[in-house]
Amino acid sequence: MTAKIMVLNGPNLNLLGTREPEIYGTETLASIEAKTHARAAALGVEVDFRQSNDEGELVTWIQEGRTDCAAIVINAAGYTHTSVAIMDALQACDIPVIELHLSNIHRREEFRHHSYISLAATGIICGFGSHGYEVAVEAAAKLVG
Ligand code: DQA
Repeated sequence: MTAKIMVLNGPNLNLLGTREPEIYGTETLASIEAKTHARAAALGVEVDFRQSNDEGELVTWIQEGRTDCAAIVINAAGYTHTSVAIMDALQACDIPVIELHLSNIHRREEFRHHSYISLAATGIICGFGSHGYEVAVEAAAKLVG
């Protein structure tokens, strides 16, 4: 059976392409999703790619991934720095969790240096822009392969 990797995106990532392009680049989330699917297909894994602005919806999806997926890649966006609930949901998962950010959060404002997601993550990818999604799927495929 093909391993399924859940790729979750948090608030405001639906605005990629026009949102602070000097930080996040000009690629849209739809374009990133297409490239992530292409990379996954080449690696022989399946990707379930989702975005929500809602913390509770992200928690519900993580709970779904916990039983239905082989790994979770998550760019929790602003919730990275605030959400104990998302961290708790990830900590309840017995599968690899990859934390992902487009920007290098450690090179930015101090409040972005702390991540609740890191406390539940197997590994972290940040600072490679949209290419990070392909790197994350590659890392996930390696971990579940
Ligand atoms: C982000 C970094 C976060 O600090 C920020 O709140 C985001 C995006 C990134 O992908 O670089 O919304 O997760």
